[in-house]
Amino acid sequence: MRRSSSLALPALAVAALTLAGCSSASSEATSESGVPLIAEGKLTVCTNPPYEPFEFKEGDQIVGLDIDIVQEVANDLGVDLALVETGFDGIQSGAALNAGSCDLVASGITITEEREGKLDFSDPYFDANQGLLVPAGSSLDSLESLAGVTVGVQQATTGETFAADNGLTSVQFEDLGLQIQALKNGQVEAIINDIAVLGPYVNDSFVIGTQFETGEQYGLGVKTGNTALLDAVNGTLERIATDGTYDEIYARWITPAAS
Ligand code: ARG
Repeated sequence: MRRSSSLALPALAVAALTLAGCSSASSEATSESGVPLIAEGKLTVCTNPPYEPFEFKEGDQIVGLDIDIVQEVANDLGVDLALVETGFDGIQSGAALNAGSCDLVASGITITEEREGKLDFSDPYFDANQGLLVPAGSSLDSLESLAGVTVGVQQATTGETFAADNGLTSVQFEDLGLQIQALKNGQVEAIINDIAVLGPYVNDSFVIGTQFETGEQYGLGVKTGNTALLDAVNGTLERIATDGTYDEIYARWITPAAS
């Protein structure tokens, strides 16, 4: 269930090589607009698929709402976008940013007070609540109904915190794909994750048992103190909110039933 997140290592190796190739330690890579970046000519972003519709694979490409938004940030910086698949724990804890694996984290990350202490968040770009996905025909449809039930949660997420805060018995999975698999094979009777990512799994076999109004908001994250990049990210978020790009991106990925 808990794999070590070895996925971040290749990125570290690449970052180390890039630094070794520099003529002096101070010649940091920068974008056209002067924002410091870990690798020349690209904005490197850590993300944790599968998390449809925010980040998930189509063939071998990672696509989704978060990806379209960070592509806009890269466009504004005048650089390419490079994505690094990373375990969510390393993303939300600031570890991936502090290790130099990426410039930015984009992963449907809820802005929380605890995380504010570990990384710096952009302005919010998406509203979220938690939801319960259960097999069709299940009687699980409220917090009370979950007494004595083992619920599957995603490790290091606000869903995990929600389950703990409400005294639920839970088992952790490293990503949403493994949560869904556990529900399919009957290892757990229900799973909790953000409501928008449960929508894509609603079919003949699974239904939304209930929604929990947690009032969360997603932000993009930079390493603590990286104000140059944070200002650029907020600038892009403001631009796409006013020029209609955000609405286009939203409409492309969010169906009314999944929101
Ligand atoms: N919004 C939740 C949180 O921040 C879950 C995010 C999980 N994201 C992902 N790409 N797996 O804790």
